[in-house]
Amino acid sequence: MGKRITLSVIKADVGGLVGHTNVHPELLEKARGLLSGNPLVIDSYVTHVGDDINLIITHEAGRNNGEIHELAWNVFVACTEVAKKLKLYGAGQDLLADAFTGNIKGLGPGIAEMEFEERTSEPVVILMADKTEPGAWNLPLYKIFADPFNTPGLVIDPKMHCGFNFEVRDLIEDKKIIFSAPEEIYDMLVFIGAPGRYCIKRVFHKDTGDIAAVSSTQRLNLMAGRYIGKDDPVCIIRCQSGFPAVGEVLEPFAHPHLVSGWMRGSHCGPLMPVSVNDAHPTRFDGPPRVIALGFQLSEGKLVGPQDLFADPAFDRAREQANYIADYLRRHGPFEPHRLHLEEMEYTTMPLVMEKLKERFISMRQLRESKSAAGTT
Ligand code: F6R
Ligand code: MG
Ligand code: MG
Repeated sequence: MGKRITLSVIKADVGGLVGHTNVHPELLEKARGLLSGNPLVIDSYVTHVGDDINLIITHEAGRNNGEIHELAWNVFVACTEVAKKLKLYGAGQDLLADAFTGNIKGLGPGIAEMEFEERTSEPVVILMADKTEPGAWNLPLYKIFADPFNTPGLVIDPKMHCGFNFEVRDLIEDKKIIFSAPEEIYDMLVFIGAPGRYCIKRVFHKDTGDIAAVSSTQRLNLMAGRYIGKDDPVCIIRCQSGFPAVGEVLEPFAHPHLVSGWMRGSHCGPLMPVSVNDAHPTRFDGPPRVIALGFQLSEGKLVGPQDLFADPAFDRAREQANYIADYLRRHGPFEPHRLHLEEMEYTTMPLVMEKLKERFISMRQLRESKSAAGTT
């Protein structure tokens, strides 16, 4: 039997180069330096997507471990100092607390963690996105773990034929529910089709109960009680031998589905799969990006990564994403390109409404006064 390993992916935006587009290499170097050689850590890998730093850490301390969370917090604090020195944009923007308070959840950074016994061979894919929100994983996770048109393993692999259990979170009421796929997919879709509120948090193998996938589900804007930013999400997926093949995990991204985020967290746009080298959203602060890094775990060591979207097979998806971006952009300030009122992170509505409120005339009162006067 293999080692019990915890894989933690913890991310934060602590300053952008330039604006909200990218991370300065000095911040990445700082993070690498602080993680490597730390006695708690078996192995680590630091990367970025857009303006977010992603810390990928393996250890034996289990999920929700205060020391690991504190380590990540301290890394982000140290990176913030570098960002401040360089006057990078929005330095420290995701660190909402003045000090670490035991668990990184609720303090700003996003986190996805899973603990498992390392198999004889343990391939994992880590998805990381910028300029979108946790619900962006709903459609791909559904396709990967419940749709036989995406994942033939659900039909023809005896180790996957039983299906998967989905843990869905209600981010507004802070509740969770487990759905069993495929029997309950129609019920589940009622919820996960509304990704601004209901998010797939975890997926479990139905026969073994093993963890198959976990996503980050923090929503910064709700946590802070005021606008901070949509929380750019991460997701870990175990692959092969009873879990979806690497290619089944990547396949949904050949279709650049529409997600919320993009400019000012207030627009709908296509999620473009890119290599790490292209993970710097520029056009209209986007379009939203997703990267996928593949690792083989070996006694907790992160062997890799392979930059999985650095593949011409995803060129068509990128082309299509650009086409969709053109099409949506021509809607300018109109829905559905601009998000509906409740989903927008930036709005001047209360301000403009206050200014104009005296000029709004009640149609009911107008009708009543006309009918009292005998006119129509
Ligand atoms: C979206 C995002 C950017 C900013 C935009 C305005 O998630 O990060 O689109 O919202 O660049 O940024 P501020 O308000 O910082 O000028
Ligand atoms: Mg930013
Ligand atoms: Mg970001």
